[in-house]
Amino acid sequence: MTTVLTAVSHHHETAVVAAVGDAPGLTLVRRCADLAELLSAGAAGVARVAVVSADLRGLDRDALRHLAGHGVRVAGFVDPADEEGERRLRQLGVATLLHPGDAPSAVGAALAGLAEATTSQPLPVAAPPVDVGPDAPRVRTPVTVVWGPTGAPGRSTVAVTLAAGLAGSGVRTLLVDLDTWGASVAQLLGMADEAPGVAAAARASEQGTLDVPGLARLAPEALPGLRVLTGLPRADRWPELRAAAVEDLLRLARAVAEHVVVDVGFALEDDEELSYDTAAPRRNAATLTALEAADHLVAVGAADPVSLQRLVRGVQEVAVRPAPRPLVVVNKVRAEVAGPRPERAIREVLGRFAGLEEVRMLPWAPDDCDAAVLAGRSLTEVRPRSPLTVAVAGLAAELDPRCAQALGSTRHGRRRRVRV
Ligand SMILES: Nc1ncnc2c1ncn2[C@@H]1O[C@H](COP(=O)(O)OP(=O)(O)OP(=O)(O)O)[C@@H](O)[C@H]1O
Ligand SMILES: [Mg+2]
Repeated sequence: MTTVLTAVSHHHETAVVAAVGDAPGLTLVRRCADLAELLSAGAAGVARVAVVSADLRGLDRDALRHLAGHGVRVAGFVDPADEEGERRLRQLGVATLLHPGDAPSAVGAALAGLAEATTSQPLPVAAPPVDVGPDAPRVRTPVTVVWGPTGAPGRSTVAVTLAAGLAGSGVRTLLVDLDTWGASVAQLLGMADEAPGVAAAARASEQGTLDVPGLARLAPEALPGLRVLTGLPRADRWPELRAAAVEDLLRLARAVAEHVVVDVGFALEDDEELSYDTAAPRRNAATLTALEAADHLVAVGAADPVSLQRLVRGVQEVAVRPAPRPLVVVNKVRAEVAGPRPERAIREVLGRFAGLEEVRMLPWAPDDCDAAVLAGRSLTEVRPRSPLTVAVAGLAAELDPRCAQALGSTRHGRRRRVRV
C-alpha cells in the first residue's frame, strides 16, 4: 500500500480525495489543511507521497526540498486548463501531474510509481528552457567557489579578479555574490546598490518562476563577458537565501555563462543541527549549498600568523563537508608578517601543521587594491600589470584550460585586447 498525504486548495479537495480513495493500492493517511500541516506530517514520516495542488498557498522549492529530505515524493494536481499552474509545478520540479477526471487506476499507478523512486534521488528539475549565449557552451560550465575563513583575507578581491580575468581571456563568466555576512561585489565593481541580484533570483526560484533568461536579466554585464549577480544589499536579509533557491540558481547559472565564480561567506556552521525546526532558514545555507555544487574550491587565507592558523582550521573543516578538495591560496604575502623569506616560511608552516603541500601565493599589493576599490573597478582594468593581477590570472589559467590557452597565445606574441 502506498501511503498518501493531500494538501490541496478547497475547490480541488473533493476531486483529489475521491481520486486517491478510489485508486487501487493507495491509502489516504491525512488531508492536510495547509502547507504547514503537510510539512509537519511529512516530517513525521507518515506517508511516502504527497499530492499538492498548483495553487496551494506557500508552496515553493524549499517546501518541496523539505519533503524530499523526509523521503516524501510529491505529485501535483492541476486543472488541464490551468497552463500557468502546470508550468509552475514543472518549474518547481514536480514531474508527476494528476488531473481531475484521471482514471483511478492511472492515479494509483502514478503515485505508486512515484513512491518506488528511491528517496535519495534528487528532486527532478526542469531542464533550462533556452541558452542565452550565441554559442552554447561545449564543456559543462564549471562552478568555482571562493571561500576563506574570517578576517577578510581577500575572498572578494580574489573572486572579482578571477572572474574578470576569466572574462578578459574570452570565457563568458557569471560572478555570484552569496556572502550572507557582508556582500561586497556590487560595490567593488561600482554597480548600483539597487541591482536586484541574488535576492530577486532567490524569490523567483522560490515561486517557481526562475529560468535561464530571467536569471541572465538579473545579472547585468559589469565588463564585456562578465555578468554579475550582486549580493544581498543588507546582511540582515540573509533569510532570503535558502538552500533550495541557491541550488536552483547555481544550476541555472551554468546555462548563463561558461564559468561561474561564487563569492561566499566565511562561516561553515550548520545551524540546522541546533534548531528543532528543520524548515527554518539557515544563515550559512548559501555557503554550504555552493560548496556542495562546486566543481572547484579556492580557499583563501591571509599570510599573517593568525590568518594562517584560521586557514589551517578552515581547510580541515571544509574537508569533512561535501565539497571539492580546495586549492589553497595564501594572499597578502609579505615579509613583514611572515619573515624575510615569506613564501618559504608559509609553505613550511602549512606543510608541517596541515599537510598542505600545494599552496599558491598572492603578493601584498595594497596600493593596487586601494586604487581598484576607490575606482569601483576590477584590478584587471585598473592595474592589469600588477603582480597581484598577474598571479590571479595564473590561478584562472589553472582553473580553466580555456583561460590558459588565451594566456598562452598572448605570451607567444599574439596581442590580446586589453581594456583600459
Ligand atoms: N593581495 C592584497 N594585498 C593588499 N591588500 C589586499 C590584497 N587582497 C585584498 N586586499 C585588501 O584586503 C581587504 C579585504 O579584502 P576583501 O574584501 O577581498 O576580503 P574578504 O575576505 O572578501 O572580506 P569580507 O570578510 O569582508 O568578505 C580589502 O581592503 C582589500 O583591498
Ligand atoms: Mg568579501
